Amino acid sequence: MSEQKSLGQLAGRRIVVTGGAQGMGESIVRAFAREGASVVSMDLKEDRGRAVADEIAAETGSRIRFSAVDVSDRAAVFTAVAESADRLGGLDVLVNVAGVQRARPAEELTEADFDFLLGVNLRGTLYTNQAAFTAMKPAGSGHIINFGSDAGMTAIRGLAGYSATKGGGARVDADDRPRVRSARHPRQCGGARHAHTDDGRRPTGRPCRRVLQGPARR
Ligand SMILES: NC(=O)c1ccc[n+]([C@@H]2O[C@H](COP(=O)([O-])OP(=O)(O)OC[C@H]3O[C@@H](n4cnc5c(N)ncnc54)[C@H](O)[C@@H]3O)[C@@H](O)[C@H]2O)c1
Repeated sequence: MSEQKSLGQLAGRRIVVTGGAQGMGESIVRAFAREGASVVSMDLKEDRGRAVADEIAAETGSRIRFSAVDVSDRAAVFTAVAESADRLGGLDVLVNVAGVQRARPAEELTEADFDFLLGVNLRGTLYTNQAAFTAMKPAGSGHIINFGSDAGMTAIRGLAGYSATKGGGARVDADDRPRVRSARHPRQCGGARHAHTDDGRRPTGRPCRRVLQGPARR
């Protein structure tokens, strides 16, 4: 990995990232840590998530913790986010990256496939947003960034379940928008705007501009 100079732009920010064990979530945890944020990385993949968090903590010197959570489990999400906010002394930002895909046309989508997609992409978005909003409420400010997809905005052939659940996820945060700012789609957020420019998959790891702009005004 190439050395990038830290500007300390996120020093003092308390951030939860879901899906932090790999992919774009891992890159976001790494980039935010490099910029001085205190981060709790949440993911289903406990071994990998913990190893990645430890490696990033050693590399950056930032406070990184890992929490094994299934975002489709409402009680687990509320407990994990509340514990994280306690440990961090509050919560400024949730970056909800965790997401799953089943590349199947509608007629081949099984009940199990659809439940799986609904659980992570839609219920997971609702639960993580509700839990983060609860943790942000005492301070009266915060940012919630949900990772959407082009597939959630426009139907993409062969991705019926993914499109439906990503489209639904993009509507979940609509209710929070007047109270907690939200970037519904990766391209609206600096951290993920470059998600498709490297090898067509990975972000550059640049922190989100909205996060850098400071807490949302109510
Ligand atoms: N990769 C792309 O080209 C692309 C394009 C558009 C949108 N997206 C969206 O961006 C996000 C990240 O994509 P990626 O390619 O980095 O994904 P990825 O598959 O590499 O990583 C997703 C992470 O989410 C975690 N996860 C899955 N289910 C979970 C659950 N129930 N609870 C907690 N964690 C869970 C996984 O363990 C994994 O670490 C996803 O929401 C995806 O839908 C990706």
